[in-house]
Amino acid sequence: MNTNIDKIGVFTSGGDSPGMNAAIRSVVRTCAYLEIQCVGIYRGYQGMIEGDFKPMDARSVNNIINKGGTILKSARCSDFKTEEGRKKAYEQLVSAGIKALVVIGGDGSFTGAMLFNKEYNIPVIGIPGTIDNDIFGTTYTLGFDTALNTVVESIDKIRDTASSHNRLFFVEVMGRDVGHIALNAGVGAGAEEILIPEENLGLDRLLESLKRSDASGKSSSIVVVAEGENTAGKNVFQLKEYVEEHIPKYDVRVSVLGHMQRGGAPSCFDRVLASRMGVKAVEALLEGKSTLMVGIQDNNITLTPISEAIKGHTKIDKELIRVSDIMTT
Ligand code: ADP
Ligand code: F6P
Repeated sequence: MNTNIDKIGVFTSGGDSPGMNAAIRSVVRTCAYLEIQCVGIYRGYQGMIEGDFKPMDARSVNNIINKGGTILKSARCSDFKTEEGRKKAYEQLVSAGIKALVVIGGDGSFTGAMLFNKEYNIPVIGIPGTIDNDIFGTTYTLGFDTALNTVVESIDKIRDTASSHNRLFFVEVMGRDVGHIALNAGVGAGAEEILIPEENLGLDRLLESLKRSDASGKSSSIVVVAEGENTAGKNVFQLKEYVEEHIPKYDVRVSVLGHMQRGGAPSCFDRVLASRMGVKAVEALLEGKSTLMVGIQDNNITLTPISEAIKGHTKIDKELIRVSDIMTT
């Protein structure tokens, strides 16, 4: 045990995701269990710079495991990208006696944390919180599973109206530069096509596939499109126009699911994952570890250097693409 650490700061940063509250709860309760102090830092790096801190004990995190969003709020903070901003943040931590940090966020938040550690040597452990599931070193990020359930539930509803009107729907889902939500939710919702940035389907194949669906007797179709996807330079609205132009019999609608995918009560999977990750993060700090990210691989809670976690993206599951192709026969 590194006895030097008697007070840990925890914060959420970047885009929020369901399960962040469960992770905060876990960090706070683990600190209480190990009899060290825990401080909540509000609004990510912005709150760190401003000294927006609140001591937290086991009771401060009652009834939040089931809540979406983050009770500590999240923010994007350009000041932290400057040396001056990080110096202010460090001074605030020193004056509050905070000796180590747990950052719950995505690769941007981890990049900032790594830089901060390099400059001020403050121990830091990351917990991956993003619905995009795009962080290397973990099979699942917090919020991904919940977002998938939200998307599948939404597409199920869209399918009801699509089939009533014999319509084709393009459903755009989140995933900045990656197609994990689109691919997994697309398979789960039985989409006829899934367009993701990692695989260029191409316009011709899309048309062919839609014509094939029609010829095989399908009267309605769902095409899931990842927001980062740009088939032949076309966004989801331009794809609608393109398809209507080339297959006039199709009555096409677009549905952009948007930020509702980031909200809602976390799934049981995300709550359990968050609880496991929070315990590991605090224990790692007390063992003297730093600049590592907690992850889950083969159902084991693991630690990966943050430098590696921010470098790569989780690879798209090629086997799932194959399964999807077979399912759309
Ligand atoms: P996410 O963590 O979800 O990827 P962002 O990329 O918006 O979200 O990053 C969150 C915050 O992390 C930024 O607003 C900024 O305060 C901090 N951050 C990101 N990149 C850097 C960087 N290169 N240097 C310092 N801080 C950074
Ligand atoms: O959290 C990641 C993400 O959900 C991306 O999929 C999306 O592009 C982005 O957040 C949008 O976030 P914001 O509206 O907060 O900039």
